[in-house]
Amino acid sequence: MTRTTFCLAFDRDHRAGGRAHRGPGPMPGPGVGGSPPAGGSVMRHGDGTTHPLDVRAWSAPADPVELRRLDGLDGPVLDVGSGPGRLVVALAERAIPALGVDASPAAVALANERGAPTLRRSVFDPLPGTGRWRAVLLFDGNIGIGGDPAPLLRRVAQLLAPAGRAIVETGRADAGLERYPARIERGDRCTEWFPWASVGAHHLAAVASDAGLDVHEILCDHGRWFVELRRPR
Ligand SMILES: C[S@@+](CC[C@H](N)C(=O)[O-])C[C@H]1O[C@@H](n2cnc3c(N)ncnc32)[C@H](O)[C@@H]1O
Repeated sequence: MTRTTFCLAFDRDHRAGGRAHRGPGPMPGPGVGGSPPAGGSVMRHGDGTTHPLDVRAWSAPADPVELRRLDGLDGPVLDVGSGPGRLVVALAERAIPALGVDASPAAVALANERGAPTLRRSVFDPLPGTGRWRAVLLFDGNIGIGGDPAPLLRRVAQLLAPAGRAIVETGRADAGLERYPARIERGDRCTEWFPWASVGAHHLAAVASDAGLDVHEILCDHGRWFVELRRPR
């Protein structure tokens, strides 16, 4: 993951070593009250490797790289896995109609408090406007939602209007597909395991084609990779 403003998930106070999360499902949401824990949090993969998480960005506004990716988007925009609503707020400030969807109750509460309209739902649940969204966003590692980019992109293709665009943040260009169980840890507390994935830009392009989406552009901006996909007319 290039940058992670992960929803740090301490709805329930698990101890590291707790039971594994079985099957696909939403990543648990942030803590009660929506406050992320302070620094020192990591994402642990099933193989034991860990990645530090940048929790300071949790409440931060969309950064310049993200704002550039929003340039030129037409609404309505659906932000999938919208977390605290940073992108929905940025779109609203440009008078672009946008809706967030997130499976985490605390993330949704925080987003709505910030004035970012957000539905508490999985992206795989029935959603309003299916087949009519002009743009769908999967930023900040959210291509990992559900643990497999293929069904996620098929779902995105259903959500998009003809000629609609999906902006997907990926790993570096030449990275392959990795699917793994993951959990968030801080000190001796942790979330349940959830299925997650990461994929490089070129590999994502192949997955997108199988989902019926055309690759319009692959670009790198300050070390972050994005793929713009389009649903054919
Ligand atoms: C890495 S965070 C990204 C937060 C946000 N996009 C940002 O940039 O601040 C991933 C988000 O995806 C949400 N999520 C996980 N599984 C989901 C699902 N099946 N449907 C919708 N949201 C989901 C999590 O609750 C979490 O808020």
